[in-house]
Amino acid sequence: MSEKVRVAIAGLGFGAEFIPIYQAHPDAELVAVCQRSKDDLDRVADSFEVPRRYTAFDEMLRDPDIDAVHINTPIAAHAEHTIAALEAGKHVACTVPMATTLDECRAIVAAVRESGKRYMMMETVVYSREFLHVQDLVADGTIGRLQFMRGSHHQEMAGWPGYWEGLPPMYYATHAVSPVLALANTLAESVVCLGSGRIAPNLEAHYGSPFAVESALLTLRDTEVGAEIARSLFETAREYVESFTVFGDRATFEWEQTQGSGHVLHVGEAPARIDVPDFAHRLPKEIARFTTRGVYDEENEHLSFVQGAGHGGSHPHLVHEFVRSIAEDRAPAVDEATAANWTSVGICAHESAMRGGARVAVPDYAEVRR
Ligand SMILES: NC(=O)c1ccc[n+]([C@@H]2O[C@H](COP(=O)([O-])OP(=O)(O)OC[C@H]3O[C@@H](n4cnc5c(N)ncnc54)[C@H](O)[C@@H]3O)[C@@H](O)[C@H]2O)c1
Repeated sequence: MSEKVRVAIAGLGFGAEFIPIYQAHPDAELVAVCQRSKDDLDRVADSFEVPRRYTAFDEMLRDPDIDAVHINTPIAAHAEHTIAALEAGKHVACTVPMATTLDECRAIVAAVRESGKRYMMMETVVYSREFLHVQDLVADGTIGRLQFMRGSHHQEMAGWPGYWEGLPPMYYATHAVSPVLALANTLAESVVCLGSGRIAPNLEAHYGSPFAVESALLTLRDTEVGAEIARSLFETAREYVESFTVFGDRATFEWEQTQGSGHVLHVGEAPARIDVPDFAHRLPKEIARFTTRGVYDEENEHLSFVQGAGHGGSHPHLVHEFVRSIAEDRAPAVDEATAANWTSVGICAHESAMRGGARVAVPDYAEVRR
């Protein structure tokens, strides 16, 4: 490996947001980009002056000058692309979710361990400024003993690429699951889930999933603290929100009701609106500016970046953690076992909802090998 980590990005919708961050990172070099249609590939690669371009994922994997691949292809392709990249000897960063079945999660965990390469799931929420701030409030004792947590993600996906249509809400649950598990510093053990409401039959037909909302209760490993997760993707009227709320015995952090109305910290029984600081100071100066700015102009940002309020400034933190984990030869913060647990919560929750709320154990990936 050269001194810098040589990265390729596959999938240039959301994925394009990360190009200039890798280009600016002092320990990384963006060597190639990949996506299927040549016209869009050239348009994006030209605007960022990326020399190597691939329309075929497999061909890109044969490039010996690539150390790591950051995958931003559609959800159903994540498992296949991740495993192929690991088998080609590349480190992998993959956007959420890790996969859509328990078998795929297990296969990825096994492939990571067999390859000896690093895997990181690029979960934006756990590098958002709200998460980093509340993590500090838990660590410094402000929150006190954790008592309960709640995560929710409500988004209307009409008009998004076709593979979203009718997707079980819990198949894309990591934005709601990850903050509560990471703040409790543990993994999920079991889940019971209620499927509520109905989506239109033409939407239901895609995945055989009828529910508008899925709402789950989680038990967590080695703690009496529990969590509640709610998701919706279609036909549920609400402003976009990705949120978490944490109840402690001293203070409770409660996510704002509507965007811009202000997060609240209840200290004892006294609520006060709080300002959440930015965490650019934790980053190399070359990429610090990306916590507050998208990489395009205002008209051309990816829709998810606009709706998700810039994903809380998370993108440069994700790139930094992935690159440094490779440079330091250590597991990244969201490694394969963590990613598999967070993703499996959603898969098991949907199974529970389909079985009328039966309790489903979340698999343990600690010992998984090929
Ligand atoms: N906050 C977040 O973490 C967040 C936000 C937005 C999107 N995402 C994730 O990012 C992924 C992509 O989302 P999107 O909205 O950009 O999707 P999209 O469908 O608009 O774009 C997918 C991209 O992948 C490329 N692609 C598809 N199949 C390919 C293949 N076989 N080889 C090479 N390239 C291929 C396409 O050409 C396109 O560039 C999704 O998995 C989504 O879950 C995460």
